[in-house]
Amino acid sequence: MSSILSIKNLNKIYSGKFQALKNINLEIRRGEIFALLGPNGAGKTTLINTVCGIVNPTNGQILVDGYDIIKDFRVTRSLIGLVPQELATDAFETVWDTVTLSRGLFGKAPNKPYIEEILKQLSLWDKKKNTIRTLSGGMKRRVMIAKALSHEPKVLFLDEPTAGVDVNLRKDMWEHVGALQKTGVTIILTTHYLEEAQEMADRVGVINHGEIIITENKNDLMKKMGRKQLILDLKNPLTEIPAKLSPWSLKLNTDRTQLTYMYDSAKEDNGIAKLLAELSLSGVSYKDIHTKEDSLEEIFIELVKK
Ligand SMILES: Nc1ncnc2c1ncn2[C@@H]1O[C@H](COP(=O)(O)OP(=O)(O)OP(=O)(O)O)[C@@H](O)[C@H]1O
Ligand SMILES: [Mg+2]
Repeated sequence: MSSILSIKNLNKIYSGKFQALKNINLEIRRGEIFALLGPNGAGKTTLINTVCGIVNPTNGQILVDGYDIIKDFRVTRSLIGLVPQELATDAFETVWDTVTLSRGLFGKAPNKPYIEEILKQLSLWDKKKNTIRTLSGGMKRRVMIAKALSHEPKVLFLDEPTAGVDVNLRKDMWEHVGALQKTGVTIILTTHYLEEAQEMADRVGVINHGEIIITENKNDLMKKMGRKQLILDLKNPLTEIPAKLSPWSLKLNTDRTQLTYMYDSAKEDNGIAKLLAELSLSGVSYKDIHTKEDSLEEIFIELVKK
């Protein structure tokens, strides 16, 4: 089956000067959730907006379900729904009206049962008569999703759907997105949060300085990037790391109360058991022990180095 979205040799140069996208080649599979990860300014929004026809590509080709975004722009726009990074809604309109109007803008015949279904799916049904300005930030974002879905698109773009959203709401959002996928919508989202990509995505792409540096099945990427830190909070400050512990290349923090061990979580023998045994033999006692995954930033640094 052909890709739902096919991007070939895409470049974007803003005002003849700044190259925001560098030779992007990307195929999005029908029905998948694809997470585009990247630091601020990497080009995520530029890429999404180019596909959605908001930013003009400098060159290259983009096909949505086989239709060219320039030659067949009417078709491609109706196939796409976009929840932009910057939320913009009419504050004085009601939830019901804004979503219904949005459908009308695409020339679709009214379909009350469908609007009802998406509002229910996004837990907005009891807010349908509320004006947008009376909603919380997380609710507003869900209204934006409802708007983006109002014309029954095949592909939904979510540009940082959970920016500024608290942990609980973020989890709700992940569930909503999962439910949407089950209805057959292909979803492409951007995020800074590795955890988010981990929870939601089937595949992950990492973009940095306008270049896609990797696209990978989520599970494979997580394995590859599976570096973790084991952190030991010591009972007593340590003046120096005992020589016997040198094989673990431990790091002692500045106030000498914390030891950090970096290990590869994908490896069968990660060295933790032996380390703990050696610590007790060396008389180093600790009061707490915890693990931490590499942050997205750390992973980026690793990827860029490679
Ligand atoms: N209209 C524009 N004119 C000139 N440069 C722009 C324009 N829009 C974006 N850029 C530049 O293109 C680069 C990519 O921006 P973009 O908004 O795509 O990044 P992003 O990955 O979405 O970042 P963020 O995570 O902060 O949303 C940035 O350096 C930005 O300054
Ligand atoms: Mg952005």
